[in-house]
Amino acid sequence: MIIARSVSELRAVLDTTKGSVGFVPTMGALHIGHRTLIEAARKNNEYVVVSIFINPTQFLPGEDLSKYPRREEADFKICELSGVDILFYPDTDMMYGKDEVSILAPDVRGYILEGASRPGHFDGVLTVVMKLFNIVRPTRAYFGKKDAQQLALITQMAENFFMNVEIIPMDTVRESDGLALSSRNVYLNTVERQEALKLSAALKKATKMVMQGNLVSEEIKRAMEEILTPLDVEYVAVVNRRFESLAQVVIGDTIVLVAARVGTTRLIDNMWM
Ligand code: PAJ
Repeated sequence: MIIARSVSELRAVLDTTKGSVGFVPTMGALHIGHRTLIEAARKNNEYVVVSIFINPTQFLPGEDLSKYPRREEADFKICELSGVDILFYPDTDMMYGKDEVSILAPDVRGYILEGASRPGHFDGVLTVVMKLFNIVRPTRAYFGKKDAQQLALITQMAENFFMNVEIIPMDTVRESDGLALSSRNVYLNTVERQEALKLSAALKKATKMVMQGNLVSEEIKRAMEEILTPLDVEYVAVVNRRFESLAQVVIGDTIVLVAARVGTTRLIDNMWM
């Protein structure tokens, strides 16, 4: 595995290669969710590039940028063992200059749900993903459904800017008890880890209601909120794949989402149905 810390190092390697490039952008603290993305990239492409970059522009003032988990050594090992060809590991000065052009998330879809809780977050995500795509020039890029709104916005950006990349959505990987894997789970203590199960439990309840034929969004949301009590819930939502609010679940075109704070840790989860 080659570790490239600059754009020129990365390009020097990629320019000598032929064939498809599968790309997995990450912020590190890699877990099985990330590994599933890397494995899919490995299976379907000649070359696999992973980036690890804790992107400062997607963190709002007061968020966890400074304490976001950093696991350089373990992450390098995981990449190496997963068959990554090139690990792109830039620092902030490599990625950003002063007074730059940036990408803005769409006015509506970028400012509801996660975008309402974290205004400007998706501007930072889209800007860094645009930069990374231009650096790596991937054939395919792999993103988790766990960050459903991020996935939708990146897919939209690729369409809106006529970018030559295929965005591949990947299912959410969970612990055996249902908790969605997240780099932020390390912030949870034992009691909070147990409380955090309320997010997946609420989504399970939503799935059960839909399977029993109750498709009414308000009723589903109410039942979920009951399960989520006493967590500090930021939103529970029922939307279609384009993130338009739905009064009723449309099977095959619905995402049920939840964001809540467990202690001081903000967690998100969702179910595609
Ligand atoms: P990060 O949180 O490190 O996630 C990297 C990728 O892993 C994202 O596509 C995310 O959706 C996916 N992922 C996270 N948890 C997952 C799980 N449990 N199952 C499946 N996939 C999972 O998302 C980011 O980084 C950043 O915003 C980034 C896109 C790298 C831009 O900075």
